[in-house]
Amino acid sequence: MSKPIQNQGITPSLLRSKKGVSPIVCLTAYSTQMAKTLDPHVDMLLVGDSLGMVLYGFKTTIGVTLDMMIAHGAAVTRGVTKACVIVDLPFGSYEESPAKAFNSSARVMRKTGCSGVKLEGGSEMVETVRYLTSRGIPVLGHVGLMPQSVHSSGGFRTHGKSDEEAERIRADAIEIADAGAFAIVIEGTVESVARQITLDVGVPTIGIGASPACDGQILVTDDLLGLFSDFTPRFVKRYAELEETISEAAASYADDVRLRRFPAKEHCVDSGPNL
Ligand code: KIV
Repeated sequence: MSKPIQNQGITPSLLRSKKGVSPIVCLTAYSTQMAKTLDPHVDMLLVGDSLGMVLYGFKTTIGVTLDMMIAHGAAVTRGVTKACVIVDLPFGSYEESPAKAFNSSARVMRKTGCSGVKLEGGSEMVETVRYLTSRGIPVLGHVGLMPQSVHSSGGFRTHGKSDEEAERIRADAIEIADAGAFAIVIEGTVESVARQITLDVGVPTIGIGASPACDGQILVTDDLLGLFSDFTPRFVKRYAELEETISEAAASYADDVRLRRFPAKEHCVDSGPNL
């Protein structure tokens, strides 16, 4: 693997300073080419463990490994000059102890050149977030719907509908922010919860399915592009229908090959020796 390039663009502290100033634009990326294309338009690129479902066909994110995150994280940083690149810590790589989380995060940062890591969790992760942030690792928190816990939290559903759950998510976000996270992703919650958290914490909130009340927004790029059609959550806005475009292109190519229309003269090199 080639040496990671240190990204000199937008830093976690710059993102943090955008709270109350301007909305923060974030998307996911898993490859160099996609990162290059998105970089001019976004403040942050997340190498999300959603790649397990989007790229690898897993049913959940549970099967994603640290090595997968490192390979895709390195690919993304190679394509970026401006955006802040954050890499997800996958299930099983950080929950056990703050020291384990530090080892995983240090490996990710050293091998990818990213600017920080994201981890899911609330009060149970406070000690870990404090441990990491006090040792030089910028942490993006993630509360509300936490895909790594779908098996224990009732699946992919909207969180914060009951008073008790709303209060727990709010408390989680406040504790994670107090522990030093530079921003917090709020996923799949009702608007009132996202709004209250955004008022209560001093760091930016980044919403996904959590309403415009957040300080910024993130979507899975493949959803936005119409590239991942297993299911489209209600909160996704599709800005393109690339699955259809790709299918049409592949069908045209197949026709051309079968009818011997491709390759044509202009696709051939004809200046070699006469054999
Ligand atoms: O894994 C991911 O892509 C994420 C975002 C959707 C927030 O966690």
